[in-house]
Amino acid sequence: MAMPRTAGAKRIFSGVKPTGHLTLGNYLGAMRRWAREDQHRADALFCVVDLHALTVEHDPARVRRLTRQAATLLLAAGLDPELCTVFVQSHVEEHARLSYLMECTASDGEMRRMIQYKEKAAAEQARGGSVRLSLLTYPALMAADILAYGTHEVPVGEDQAQHLELTRDLAVRFNQRYGATFVVPKTTHPQVAARVMDLQDPTSKMGKSHGRTAGIVYLLDEPEVVRKKVMRAVTDAGSDVVHDREERPGVANLLDVLAACTEGDPVALAGEYDSYGALKKDTAEAVLEVLRPVRERHAELAAAPEYVDSVLREGAERARGMARPRVDAAYRAVGLLPKE
Ligand code: AMP
Ligand code: TRP
Repeated sequence: MAMPRTAGAKRIFSGVKPTGHLTLGNYLGAMRRWAREDQHRADALFCVVDLHALTVEHDPARVRRLTRQAATLLLAAGLDPELCTVFVQSHVEEHARLSYLMECTASDGEMRRMIQYKEKAAAEQARGGSVRLSLLTYPALMAADILAYGTHEVPVGEDQAQHLELTRDLAVRFNQRYGATFVVPKTTHPQVAARVMDLQDPTSKMGKSHGRTAGIVYLLDEPEVVRKKVMRAVTDAGSDVVHDREERPGVANLLDVLAACTEGDPVALAGEYDSYGALKKDTAEAVLEVLRPVRERHAELAAAPEYVDSVLREGAERARGMARPRVDAAYRAVGLLPKE
């Protein structure tokens, strides 16, 4: 049986939060590349980061369901447990252990500067809710996720750039203070569709966890629903098809999605259309074509939950073995007395 690459290989780590149903943004911005490229060219780990889902108000049963669903979708999207390691964050204690050391490395000010924190905290307050402390410390846990594995590269969508910058800063600072312990990771983004926008509000990201769903294509939406969402996408004033993210964000987003789904170039594709209607129709069909195999494979895997569980169990065991020596070394480096 082929085993994931280990010692000496380049290491890749990335994750997805089970805070809602996964979207076309997750797929085009991250998962598709993990399956097509990353798992083949490195020793790669992909994680359902369930602890991160507890940073906002959550329903325990829903988080549990979404965690299994996200893991199933990662496999349905083509992650192969014989090539890479797929697991659930809370199954590997090393993440939380290292997160504490990252909290002791980061400053309060740099955490408060995180755009996602500011936006989510403001939204929570506007709803009259309270902001969990873990929402503020989230980037420390994310840095721990990455640094525990000696990760060289982190393939993510553009929205994660600031968190990754902070991760690099923390790695450098820790190494300077306590001696070389962590690899300083690089971030990679896809060339097209690094930021898929909401079809109803093309100036904000297509995010899985907000309430208005008409502009969000979920990977498990029925084909008719996908078609409707794309055909009803908000377009811009004017009628000629040009790729201009500033002036025509709605049309640019459709062109980006179409390009990502058909391996085309969004600017060149603009020249092939003279009406919004035709662009939407082709985009809807292209999205359906890309999602069809994922949906089909998901249906097969969802019928075999014990298989998915066994993949996660083996993945966690492998991940634990990879993370423990480095996290133990970090504990010693900061001055904690070794257990034995
Ligand atoms: P999250 O859904 O926030 O857990 O994100 C999981 C991965 O999907 C991360 O690499 C994100 O950067 C990526 N991602 C999420 N939403 C989008 C989007 N709308 N466009 C591109 N990438 C995205
Ligand atoms: N913060 C990421 C997101 O919201 C999810 C995440 C958590 C992650 N830990 C990670 C991504 C480590 C890459 C690497 O999308």
